[in-house]
Amino acid sequence: VATEPDEPQLAEPHLRAVLASAGLDVEYVRAEGNTLHMRGEDGREIPVVDFAGGYGSLLLGHNHPVITAYAKQLLDAATPVHAQFSLHPEANRLAVALNRIVRRELGDDEPYLAIFANSGAEANEAAVKHAELDRVLRLEAQLEKVGKSFEAAGYAVRGGKATVPDTTWEGAGLTAPRPQDPTEALGVLVDALTRRNAEQAARPPVFLAPEGSFHGKLVGSVQLTHNEAYRAPFKSLAAQARFVPVNRPGAVQRVIDEERASLLGLTVTGGRVEIRRHEAPVICAFILEPIQGEGGIQELTREFAEEIQSACAAIDCPVVVDEIQSGMGRTGTFLASSDIGLRGDYYTLAKSLGGGLVKTSVLLVRESRYRGQFELIHSSTFAKDGFSSLVALKVLDLVEADGGAVYREAGERGARLKDMLHAVHKDYPEVVKDVRGKGLMLGIEFHDQSDAPAPPVQEAARAGLFGYLLAGHLLRGHRIRTFPTASAANTLRFEPSVLLTDAEIQQLDTGLRDICDIVRGNYGRPLSLP
Ligand code: F0G
Repeated sequence: VATEPDEPQLAEPHLRAVLASAGLDVEYVRAEGNTLHMRGEDGREIPVVDFAGGYGSLLLGHNHPVITAYAKQLLDAATPVHAQFSLHPEANRLAVALNRIVRRELGDDEPYLAIFANSGAEANEAAVKHAELDRVLRLEAQLEKVGKSFEAAGYAVRGGKATVPDTTWEGAGLTAPRPQDPTEALGVLVDALTRRNAEQAARPPVFLAPEGSFHGKLVGSVQLTHNEAYRAPFKSLAAQARFVPVNRPGAVQRVIDEERASLLGLTVTGGRVEIRRHEAPVICAFILEPIQGEGGIQELTREFAEEIQSACAAIDCPVVVDEIQSGMGRTGTFLASSDIGLRGDYYTLAKSLGGGLVKTSVLLVRESRYRGQFELIHSSTFAKDGFSSLVALKVLDLVEADGGAVYREAGERGARLKDMLHAVHKDYPEVVKDVRGKGLMLGIEFHDQSDAPAPPVQEAARAGLFGYLLAGHLLRGHRIRTFPTASAANTLRFEPSVLLTDAEIQQLDTGLRDICDIVRGNYGRPLSLP
């Protein structure tokens, strides 16, 4: 569908200008495997190797022949796509298949209940809503339990079996003289504790997430995304997150201690009414990516994962493991988190679950935390549609085939690709700062060029666009498609499909070395700016 030359530009025209500034304003006309075919100036097709991989949604490549053939078969068979509010057996089969894989990787039998959605952010929105429903219900249960403890204390005091000692009176922050009459003293104490508990219970929920996190750009999920530019304009719309320094020992506990809340109840021990502190669920959930994608391909360490797991368990706070980019086998295991010992209370999956063809995502909630009433107050027109569910089932068949050959290929191809990146880093240490990632979720970080001798590069670097300049050069000069991780713009991301060939790795090697030579030569030879 060629664009008419004088057509008005009405679909995000500003973005078009940004693309043009980095030489990325190209049109693709065909795609298969790791290749996108770009329309050249003369109208001919030019093959481009796709290392952006649909931002992680193309583990099996563009238009995988088995998936497209299956999709055609479904359409020819007039498979119901939208049959909302019906049994949806195919969605259940998908949930069962996902459980079988998660159970194998976690070595744990507890089922996970599935809530389907249409995009990654939407699955995280469902996670946020479910966690908040669970938090409010737990808080109500706590308040009821505390109320019952007040009644029990009242019964004991009225029956002459207990009194309120000074330690309890002062412990409740009461400074006025305690009434002599035990029943009256208890009444004042309970009123004070009730008021205090109501204040604590009214506190808005807090979410915890590692610095550098990315969980989507919808109203709730964008507040869990660390990038200030994405998050700040919409702060007033949703619950806020506290961002925890990544892989820093003790950081999780420090933030929890700053944010936690308690409810004060009463117990009667040996004729004395005493205060009992109960953890109040004000921290709603800890959400994390086992390997941060958009934040710059940052792996969480096993130690950090263990600290999160134990600190959250101690305050009964669910851990939401966002595997939207790292999952589906891209890092060599279906879940990247299983490799650092994480056992999530919730998981979210999307991107490659749709096989590069359909839009689907899923929230999995551990049975012991699941609130069935959530199903009656949360829904989406297109979620768990018949077509997407069946295609996603086919995707799971493909990644699980031959005992998980795709996972092994992701590991092997990723290791080859990473070896090449390490070699480039070794040969150009003053240009390349770091190589990171696992399997086919890799990144190469370049040193900051804000003081580069060439003004255009200096301006781009200061505007956080250096990575896009490199991407433009790789595209125009080497027919390589990749992008920086948007919130870490000096890092280029590589998330190709498992179909990656040695020749394609070689092509990227040549392109990266060309960039490094240009930068090393301090831009004697220009990056191919548009
Ligand atoms: N969670 C993670 C870990 C992601 O990487 C993304 C998207 C999302 C959620 C949101 O998914 O776009 O389907 O709503 N990551 C892309 C990136 C944008 O640049 O890595 P979505």
